[in-house]
Amino acid sequence: MCGIVGYIGKKNAYQILIDGLKRLEYRGYDSAGISIINNNSKIVAFKQKGKVSEVESAIDSSEFTGNIGIGHTRWATHGEPNDVNAHPHFDMDENIIIVHNGIIENYKTLQKFLSGEGFTNRSETDTEILANLMNYYYRQTKNFEQAVRNSLNDVEGTYGVACLCAKEPDRIIVARKGSPLMLGVSMEEIIIASDASAIINHTKNVMYLEDGEMAVLTKQGFQLKTIKDEDIYREIQELDFELSEIEKGGFEHFMLKEICEQSDSIQNTYRGRINFDTGVARLGGLEPVMEKILNAKRILITACGTAWHAGLTGEYMLESCARIPVEVDYASEFRYRNPIIYPDDVVFVISQSGETADTLSALREAKNNGATTVGIVNAVGSTIAREVDAGTYIHAGPEIGVASTKAFTCQLMSLTLISMMLAEAKGAMDSENLKRIADEIKMLPEKIQTMIDRREEYKFIAEEFKDARNFLYLGRGYNFPAALEGALKLKEISYIHAEGYPAAEMKHGPIALIDENMPVVFIAPKDKTYDKIISNIEEVKARKGRIISIAFEDDDQIAQYSDFVLRVPKTINILTPIINSIPLQFLAYYIATARGCNVDQPRNLAKSVTVE
Ligand code: F6R
Repeated sequence: MCGIVGYIGKKNAYQILIDGLKRLEYRGYDSAGISIINNNSKIVAFKQKGKVSEVESAIDSSEFTGNIGIGHTRWATHGEPNDVNAHPHFDMDENIIIVHNGIIENYKTLQKFLSGEGFTNRSETDTEILANLMNYYYRQTKNFEQAVRNSLNDVEGTYGVACLCAKEPDRIIVARKGSPLMLGVSMEEIIIASDASAIINHTKNVMYLEDGEMAVLTKQGFQLKTIKDEDIYREIQELDFELSEIEKGGFEHFMLKEICEQSDSIQNTYRGRINFDTGVARLGGLEPVMEKILNAKRILITACGTAWHAGLTGEYMLESCARIPVEVDYASEFRYRNPIIYPDDVVFVISQSGETADTLSALREAKNNGATTVGIVNAVGSTIAREVDAGTYIHAGPEIGVASTKAFTCQLMSLTLISMMLAEAKGAMDSENLKRIADEIKMLPEKIQTMIDRREEYKFIAEEFKDARNFLYLGRGYNFPAALEGALKLKEISYIHAEGYPAAEMKHGPIALIDENMPVVFIAPKDKTYDKIISNIEEVKARKGRIISIAFEDDDQIAQYSDFVLRVPKTINILTPIINSIPLQFLAYYIATARGCNVDQPRNLAKSVTVE
């Protein structure tokens, strides 16, 4: 969602803040702004609607010299994206200025109270109310830290917040509840950021703030406390990825880079976790809760968006391999429909960012009901990763493109490994079958690479369909969620309306949409439903729909039924969603770029949705 950056040290803060905001822009990008304590100890601020580069061109940087500052890139939650609603926000007296991620849920009550005290607002944001509240307490206490603490104790909702004070210009105060914030700490400076991408080019030494904590930063160092004023000591941690991993590396877009990384990222997910001689998979992070999982009557999976599609695929995998009943829920629905959760349930929570608000709430709901929770997460040290009872990292590496690609296939790989591990532990699958899956996994990176190497084929088809107004994606079994994911990829980056269905469902409604203008993508691996899929293709063909099939290289039947065939290497059933996702991602990418869309920053979307 929104991004926060801050700097305190000996260098000029301006460029560090601008560079940090550019790195964070993928989290939200309708407006941006910065604020600096200048060399005369005065607060200067600039903010406006638009991208960070537009803000940069509009700022007179000569006024922004100083070595303490904060910045923000916004994705609107309260109030439309415009100059006034952009962050930072001053209080009414222009004493305290803040940047804020999250939502102040009781802002109306606070606003009512503050207006009774004579405070007025310029913007429509909840953030400005928080700034006013801080200054209300500053007027009483004449102490910045106390003012921030008192305010945060009054607030309901979520925040990652960084604050400057004109009357105490030697410090930044930061705090966190429900919205990530971390400090990059080196000898002479501290960088504040809502995620590591804005820190890693300065230092790898980081400290994550936990919920209910605040830190007072000066040029001499920082002091970590709870918002109840208890001292805390925490070890500095080391980030385990390189800056080059989050840069574009010669690709036109992060999304293309990330699609093309999947041969490596898949290997990183399974590396060291499979014994290829025996076919036995071991995920160390799950060991502490293995007994609970093996005794569970069911597994619940909860997630959002693409991660939810991975969860749906996981249902097919876990039920078929480990024979454990699985239920999959949207995290947002799970949390609010008063779900029945038994203490012996195991809840799998899937999230790339590890910060998605709905997923985090679902996790907490599950924990509150006594269930055992297992995370399948990409972002190391993220909130979900820290709060689950046990879990596994998917090791996809940083995913910057807003549309999730490599995280999805790595989530599928993790779920495959979990299914193998449980299948073996439960005796639900014999070693010959496990070995067969392991052998196929070993060949997967090379197979993925062949598709990446011939991606130009997918580009040609994209040209053909770039002006379509609707798309249908159909698949069965393991490839039904892959169809949902293919449709989601297309709509989020190309703005073409697309829907995914189980192929057999088509005749129960969607078939009414078919005419000569409707492209239909069939995911058609040669599995036990292949003949049925061919029948579905014929039904579409009879109604003049245009067929794009995704099929194995050695499928010599499919071409006669299809207008276009995207060939994929042959593999076993359980791995077909991974293989088939690659051409689906390329198709979406090339259609979107052919339409001139900004695939890395699609409209209205944010990488990490940290509001409910
Ligand atoms: C789609 C996409 C989103 C995310 C969803 C959950 O390409 O990226 O649908 O999958 O917002 O995000 P995480 O996995 O970070 O919890």
